[in-house]
Amino acid sequence: MRRPAWFLPGILGIMLFGPGAVLAAPSGASIAAQGSGSAPPCAVCHGAHGEGNAAIGAPRLAGVGAAYLQEQLRDFADGTRASPIMAPVAKALDSAQDEAVAAYYAGFPAPAVAAAAGAPSPGKLLAERGRWSDGLPACSQCHGPDGVGVGAAFPPLAGLPAAYVAAQLQAWQQGHRAPCPLGLMAAVAKKMSKADIEDVAAYFASIGRASTPEAGK
Ligand code: HEC
Ligand code: HEC
Repeated sequence: MRRPAWFLPGILGIMLFGPGAVLAAPSGASIAAQGSGSAPPCAVCHGAHGEGNAAIGAPRLAGVGAAYLQEQLRDFADGTRASPIMAPVAKALDSAQDEAVAAYYAGFPAPAVAAAAGAPSPGKLLAERGRWSDGLPACSQCHGPDGVGVGAAFPPLAGLPAAYVAAQLQAWQQGHRAPCPLGLMAAVAKKMSKADIEDVAAYFASIGRASTPEAGK
């Protein structure tokens, strides 16, 4: 007996969009909330809305560029960005899952930035003007005014935990974090003193508030 013309497409449809759909197209939302295989749910550390958790040094993912997030997951997995916490998580995800979860977090609105009040601190001056005598560019040149982030390549800095920012700058100084496209951040970090790092880290932590969809009510 000849099968009707819809038979094969119909069966394929059931395979793709039926119970197999989770395998066929990984869902960023489900990886975030439930994890996948040996990867724990991202939300446990990065918050229910990707807002981050300063106490454990987990940065915000909400509203950060998808290409940047995906690159970080690859770097954690291959060890070019060293993190004992994120390495096993990233290794447990395949590239389609990286893409899905990065797109999921990139889709959240970025938190509002609350500019720091009062006299400009040394960290604010460095962030906005740099120090040309040492060839240190202003962070705002690449990361935007108030560290809001620019496009997919320059991640936001406002509201990142101070200890996290300081650790990233030290990682670039010591070669524990991939120098990134064009080696931009490794070059910047190597021009910074210990005091510079503390100052800018405190400044960027002070100007952001983690806002979630519930916040601000
Ligand atoms: C056990 C806690 C924990 C879990 C679970 C976790 N993370 Fe992380 N994540 C961290 C910490 C801590 C860092 C900061 C690492 C560092 O210091 O470089 C981080 C950093 C990151 C970064 C780098 C962000 C940036 O701004 O450069 C990305 C991307 C990321 N995590 C994605 C994920 C995803 C996706 C998941 C879920 C599949 C996940 N994380 C699960 C703790 C966690
Ligand atoms: C010439 C451009 C440029 C300048 C100037 C610059 N950055 Fe960056 N920065 C980048 C790029 C590109 C990245 C993404 C790195 C990657 O892909 O791993 C980055 C990433 C970062 C991150 C990691 C954010 C995260 O979520 O993990 C921190 C922290 C940072 N920059 C701090 C600074 C500070 C502080 C200054 C000023 C002293 C500064 N940057 C100036 C280009 C720049």
